[in-house]
Amino acid sequence: MKWLLKAASAVALSAGLMAPQASAAENDVDAAQADISKVSYAKEVSRLIQARCETCHRPEGIAPFSMTNYRQVRGWAKMIKEVINDGRMPPWHADPRYGHFKNDRRLTEHELALFNAWLDNGMAKGDDADLPEPANYGGEWRVGTPDIVLVQPEEVTIDPTGVVPYMYFTQDPGFKEDIYVTAAEALAGNIKVVHHIIVTWFLPEGVNKEYPGQREGFLIGTAPGDMPLLTEPGQARLIPAGAHLRWQMHYTPTGKVEKDQSRLGLMTTKEMPAELIMTNSPGQYQLDIPPHAENHMVETTYTTPQDIRIVSFMPHMHLRGKAYRYEVKYPDGREEILLDIPKYDFNWQATYRLTEPKFLPKGTQVHLVAHFDNSDKNPYNPDPNKNVHWGDQTWEEMMIGWHDFVIKREDLAQVEKTSLSGD
Ligand code: HEC
Repeated sequence: MKWLLKAASAVALSAGLMAPQASAAENDVDAAQADISKVSYAKEVSRLIQARCETCHRPEGIAPFSMTNYRQVRGWAKMIKEVINDGRMPPWHADPRYGHFKNDRRLTEHELALFNAWLDNGMAKGDDADLPEPANYGGEWRVGTPDIVLVQPEEVTIDPTGVVPYMYFTQDPGFKEDIYVTAAEALAGNIKVVHHIIVTWFLPEGVNKEYPGQREGFLIGTAPGDMPLLTEPGQARLIPAGAHLRWQMHYTPTGKVEKDQSRLGLMTTKEMPAELIMTNSPGQYQLDIPPHAENHMVETTYTTPQDIRIVSFMPHMHLRGKAYRYEVKYPDGREEILLDIPKYDFNWQATYRLTEPKFLPKGTQVHLVAHFDNSDKNPYNPDPNKNVHWGDQTWEEMMIGWHDFVIKREDLAQVEKTSLSGD
């Protein structure tokens, strides 16, 4: 039982970040079963790394080094110890006190304890015969073989240094009928330079006038290595006939000239889904962030015009983004925090996918609160002397509180009538 004590102290170290979570249970290597003297790379740690680190820390992953064998992991041991205990890795930015998320990357208490036990006790290699099969990343697409593959309209060349402005591309995919998307994945053409890809759709002026829902929507926002978008059975994301796509590409220079042409894969269904996933994009466009402001608050509120069930959140700010929070006030006066990002990190444009959809009855006030740091304490701040306003470029700012919600298909017309955009 000595081991359990150790586990408890390791957990206490990062108490602020740890909370019981069901979502990770399936990946949880059962530490309670492990005997400290026997924790080995071959048996437990390799499996833990496969489940928790390797999607990014592998040769084709987004992390700067791989952890796919004993030698590599051992070589990084000291750093691993530090980053898992201070909660920096796996990367996850939501305060665990609010909401439960399917894609929560944090280690469970058991996993953390197991890792620490191994790191602190000589990092035994164990018996190679116990090693798991190498993970199969299934070729390129993680969603399977997409029904529709769309290619970024232009190949781009990225200069070795400097700030690369966001690049936008619009595309007519030629959709003659409504498309029901059940899974979507954006695949970086060149993982070294692609920072994130956001694809939205819109109905151009005059196109598909009879379409009853919103005239623009979200399709996928992803950093390379993130989970593809997957809907639940009976649900789909609708791209109306005639819609055009808009790609927002964010590149980070690597010191060399790089080229990229990314792709978007869609899995679709011919069956009419019972429910549709739509996106609401409230934001605060009136941004006026004073020079040197350390903690400038910006907020916006809208009231749900109908019952909705929220399935995911994606807060969006740029380099001066510091914190972001989604709060609600129900019609009966109760208040709740749905998502809190106390330390927003522009480098991780994450979507937070709820384990259980959140029901908001008609008349709920959705309150979005962002904080910006325009001081020189913010290491990403391109210029603390600037008065900052809304703009596409990373040295300008944005304040958007995207969230996906589910409605019954027959309620689509309702959405338009009561336009949900809280802008
Ligand atoms: C979602 C992708 C992802 C996952 C999952 C992930 N990492 Fe990382 N890791 C990164 C990236 C990217 C970096 C480079 C630094 C950065 O961008 O924060 C990094 C950096 C590191 C570093 C170097 C520390 C530093 O400050 O540069 C260590 C050590 C590390 N990761 C360990 C782990 C361990 C251990 C796990 C699993 C328990 C893990 N990572 C899971 C993406 C990931």
